[in-house]
Amino acid sequence: MSMTENINKPAVDAVRVRDPHRPRFHFTPPMNWMNDPNGICHHDGRYHLYYQYNPNDALWGDIHWGHASSADLVRWRDEPVALAPSSGPDEGGCFSGSFALVYGQPTIYYTGYTDTAQVQCMATSDDLQRWRKVDGALIELPPAGVPRDQFRDPYVFQHRDVWYMVVGASLNGERGQCLLYRSDDGRDWKYLHPLYTSPRLQLGVMWECPNFFPIGDKWVLSVSVWQNMGAHYFVGRFENERFVPEFDDVLDVDGSAFAHLTFMAPDGRALQWAWINEQRSADLMRADGWAGAMTVPRVLGLTDAGQLTIRPVDEIGALRGDVAAAATCRVGGAETVAFEGRHLDIELDVELLDAKPVGLTLLASPDGLEATRIVYNPNMRRLTVERARSSFNPKTERQNQHAHLYLEPGEPLRLRVLLDATVIEVYANDRVNLTSRVYPTLGSSVGASVFAEGYANVALKAWQMGDIYGEPA
Ligand code: FRU
Repeated sequence: MSMTENINKPAVDAVRVRDPHRPRFHFTPPMNWMNDPNGICHHDGRYHLYYQYNPNDALWGDIHWGHASSADLVRWRDEPVALAPSSGPDEGGCFSGSFALVYGQPTIYYTGYTDTAQVQCMATSDDLQRWRKVDGALIELPPAGVPRDQFRDPYVFQHRDVWYMVVGASLNGERGQCLLYRSDDGRDWKYLHPLYTSPRLQLGVMWECPNFFPIGDKWVLSVSVWQNMGAHYFVGRFENERFVPEFDDVLDVDGSAFAHLTFMAPDGRALQWAWINEQRSADLMRADGWAGAMTVPRVLGLTDAGQLTIRPVDEIGALRGDVAAAATCRVGGAETVAFEGRHLDIELDVELLDAKPVGLTLLASPDGLEATRIVYNPNMRRLTVERARSSFNPKTERQNQHAHLYLEPGEPLRLRVLLDATVIEVYANDRVNLTSRVYPTLGSSVGASVFAEGYANVALKAWQMGDIYGEPA
């Protein structure tokens, strides 16, 4: 019996809400370590979120599949652990993978890990809780040029009545690539060729967690870049079983989000989650007894130019409670519109009247010595999460994090900031996303305000946010 079958759910939810480091509206595991989202699907009226999980420690290792489900994408319920390593090809861990409904049969594809090999495995279920592993591995060996320990994270989809699997890999340990397999029945897989190989050496030595999905008449390939802890996407065409890229950009740079997983919801939306890693020392994670959070679910789209658009799903608006701030004003060379909170959904629209930095101060202590800033610098076209003063604790990461943000002439800056204790997600103009972690030490570090070094017209609205746990069983 796994640990989560025994958990007392109300007690675990109470612990989650009491821990000052725990986010409230970003999913975190009941206890212990979590990394990538896996096998996201919608089945029999519920969304299912599986995730890489170590049930026995707040650090990575002994990887299982944890599981939570939700009726509405807002409130989540912990479910029993779905997959555990057992003697055979996954005895060292059940690594990342995806879900497919194969001729009516709920099926997950995942990577079986041992010290010597990574192989692609399969399991089926009737209730999405108890999973039966298919004996052995579906795909034992990678093609020539792919190291056996750099061959993982199968993403399965159906297109024109054919099943396809995209597997993350390295080419000779030197650059990332995605391998394409096909199958008529979802069990016998034939290797075709690389779906796409990295055009640039700067994009890591291996690609993890590939996703390949259509939006409109285009196809999006997203990959997590190892070892850069960033993610990248390509937009193009899928023709003759090959990917023809037309545009590419950063999905997450310099940030804390990784292993993005996109699934097509029944209503046609492309919904994405990513793992938000911890940025604090192992002993701090162990002291709190948990590690890792998920982004909120986001909706993806494409602009006419082929750039990905990304914003939180509308559903999380249901978690908005009291209004923390509402103001429309001209700001000039100062801090203004003071409010407070540790769990906030903030919308800030800014008309820049000169080219000076503007942004938000968050989690500030009354004397301002502990504080985090989100800054847009129009000259540098740069969005930054400034963390140098985020925490007095030296065992936390405090370097600044940047994303490139180009605004068209006259285009206002539109920030949506989700602050959730130690998690900050910044969405800018629906097309740039920056995710960060900060760990303020003082209970009084709850101050928030808008600042502008020059002149700007700002419209601000902020709400206190509720928590996502405690859905009735
Ligand atoms: C990405 C990753 C995957 C792997 C999993 C193991 O974070 O390294 O490539 O399947 O984590 O937990």
